[in-house]
Amino acid sequence: MMKPIILTGDRPTGKLHIGHYVGSLKNRVLLQEQNQYDMYVFLADQQALTDHAKESEKIKDSIGQVALDYLAVGLNPEQSTIFIQSQIPELAELTMYYMNLVSLARLERNPTVKTEIAQKGFGESIPTGFLVYPISQAADITAFKANLVPVGTDQKPMIEQTREIVRSFNRTYQRDVLVEPEGIYPENDAAGRLPGLDGNAKMSKSLNNGIFLSDDADTVRKKVMSMYTDPDHIRVEDPGKIEGNMVFHYLDVFGRKEDRATIEEMKAHYQSGGLGDVKTKRYLLEILDRELSPIRERRLEYAKDMAEVFRMLEKGSQKAREKAAQTLDEVKEAMGIRYF
Ligand code: TRP
Repeated sequence: MMKPIILTGDRPTGKLHIGHYVGSLKNRVLLQEQNQYDMYVFLADQQALTDHAKESEKIKDSIGQVALDYLAVGLNPEQSTIFIQSQIPELAELTMYYMNLVSLARLERNPTVKTEIAQKGFGESIPTGFLVYPISQAADITAFKANLVPVGTDQKPMIEQTREIVRSFNRTYQRDVLVEPEGIYPENDAAGRLPGLDGNAKMSKSLNNGIFLSDDADTVRKKVMSMYTDPDHIRVEDPGKIEGNMVFHYLDVFGRKEDRATIEEMKAHYQSGGLGDVKTKRYLLEILDRELSPIRERRLEYAKDMAEVFRMLEKGSQKAREKAAQTLDEVKEAMGIRYF
């Protein structure tokens, strides 16, 4: 029996933070450890270039950093194929053929693309490549005949669009060549979208409100101590608010089963007054450190030999390319464009 295929990836536009960790990385490692899947994880550098065309240096640096983040959290190149999108030219070729099956209006309706276009302030100058990236994402997914795609909820429209392309291709060319994928989304939305340290709806590099997997212990301590809590909780004896208090939000996300009782006690104490922010922050720091310090140590180890990290990516890319080439062959065969 063939194992179900999983494919997922990230745009390398900076280091990964603990929001990425709870929202997706942790889940990928769990899936890897189940040993029931053939797993591909990749760095979508071509997708990153669609809105960073002038920053290819930064993207190269981010590829190294994100690969370190992957290794540090426990993705294992012996078990999972880790590769770089741009090193698989077959993906670009598939994109070309799929473009003919998708209307411009359909792309413009994609809700995630719509939001991003508004956020990025492209105005009248939306790069064509950016508008088309959902199609290239469909190529990524279908090239590996992925059955499952674990992603954040913001990626739902991409999976939907991929499924449409698969159906359209198979219908148009009268062959069951492409596989319709399913998305796997975080069950817990609190983890799926971790807010920033400042209470902003999203943890992000540009807002400088995140804790990165590469942050050292001292930096994490300073960041936790500066977290947004309850601005009206001024004296220790004042009653405090839990809602919108980032320390309690993070405790809910990062606490384990065995921590639940303590967390609930702290919440009650905080709400009735008499529990200071410094105490709650120290407790959160303990919980975060338990999770992050092994990751941090592994990351430092791997970072000593970046050449080795890139060799690992090269090997993964070679393996991924064989699989993608096979699918491209079948696609061209189905389309009847193998002339010789
Ligand atoms: N769009 C994803 C992101 O922004 C990255 C990505 C590109 C991806 N291709 C993919 C994710 C294929 C899953 C499957 O993070």
